[in-house]
Amino acid sequence: MYKSLVKPFLFKKDAEEAHHFTCNLLKRGLNLPLARSVFKGLYGYENPKLEREVFGIKFPNPVGMAAGFDKDAKMIKELDQLGFGFIEIGTLTPKPQDGNDKPRLFRLPQDEALINRMGFNNGGVEDSVQRLKTKGNIIVGGNIGKNKNTPNEEAVNDYKICFKALYPYVDYFVVNVSSPNTPGLRELQDKEPLMNLLSTLQKDREAYEVRKPILLKIAPDLTNDQLDDIVDIVKTIKLDGLIATNTTISRDELTTDKEIVDGIGNGGVSGAPLKERSTEIISYLYKALGDDVPIIGVGGINSPEDAVEKLKAGAKLIQIYSGLIFQGPGFIKAIKQEIVKSL
Ligand code: FNR
Repeated sequence: MYKSLVKPFLFKKDAEEAHHFTCNLLKRGLNLPLARSVFKGLYGYENPKLEREVFGIKFPNPVGMAAGFDKDAKMIKELDQLGFGFIEIGTLTPKPQDGNDKPRLFRLPQDEALINRMGFNNGGVEDSVQRLKTKGNIIVGGNIGKNKNTPNEEAVNDYKICFKALYPYVDYFVVNVSSPNTPGLRELQDKEPLMNLLSTLQKDREAYEVRKPILLKIAPDLTNDQLDDIVDIVKTIKLDGLIATNTTISRDELTTDKEIVDGIGNGGVSGAPLKERSTEIISYLYKALGDDVPIIGVGGINSPEDAVEKLKAGAKLIQIYSGLIFQGPGFIKAIKQEIVKSL
């Protein structure tokens, strides 16, 4: 029904409008007990074989909602009801910010891809904290970044503010230095600033009784030399885990007319064309780090088989975003069934 009815309707709307429309619909619908039970009947799938313990956290299943979909922690319960095993909120910044001018989210149906240059639009970390207080036992990751106006020399402070504000309310942290849509942000992926940023947060963590995992989310555009630097850092400071990958600035894998792509302009590509590079990076990192440093695999999962491929490449958990837009809400269940089949 999604592909024949809902998707054609949604795809007629501007992509960002369609996102808000869908979120509102889910919110209203899933408030009604009847709709909730119909939803559960259609999309629910639980199986003890899907349970995982990673970073010391028990996940009901390994399929997560990637960062960027629910930036402001407004959809946690609804996404949980769709069957996700965990939800990553953010990227959050200390102060609220509008993000880039619209339009800033585009679909490339022929490639089953998206291009976005949202630019960390979010209501600020404190706004999300209020909502997180009632999240219950749903596993939530806090993806944190810096405000656009904060110069890179002061970026550590922005991450520290978000880290402190979220600490009591999220289950794990993701340090995002890999978005292509905040000017200069990816320079923080260089060895020295990165080491400094991550070890500062690790030090801040020592003040708390409960130790929450800190993960680093990396770009798919890193060279193997840069990946080697990441591996070095991870080993040196004993980082808890990695998320590979964010969106790519490359347009090489796209088959959509070049004129259309050029017309869209800057932004990160997600969806099917990202799959191969993202999986390559997971394999590369897994070979270097083994099972000690868990990897969350994300990027271009557009079929249940793609999800299994990421797990086989070495990911312990996976996340999806674009695949949900192109495949619909039944995709989560289909992935979970395929994972069980593959075991
Ligand atoms: C994203 N992504 C993202 N990642 C992140 O760390 N912080 C963010 O704020 C966002 N925002 C965002 C917005 C939109 C509209 C999209 C499509 C993506 C990246 C996302 O979490 C994921 O890493 C990539 O989209 C690759 O996965 P998929 O989409 O190919 O499954």
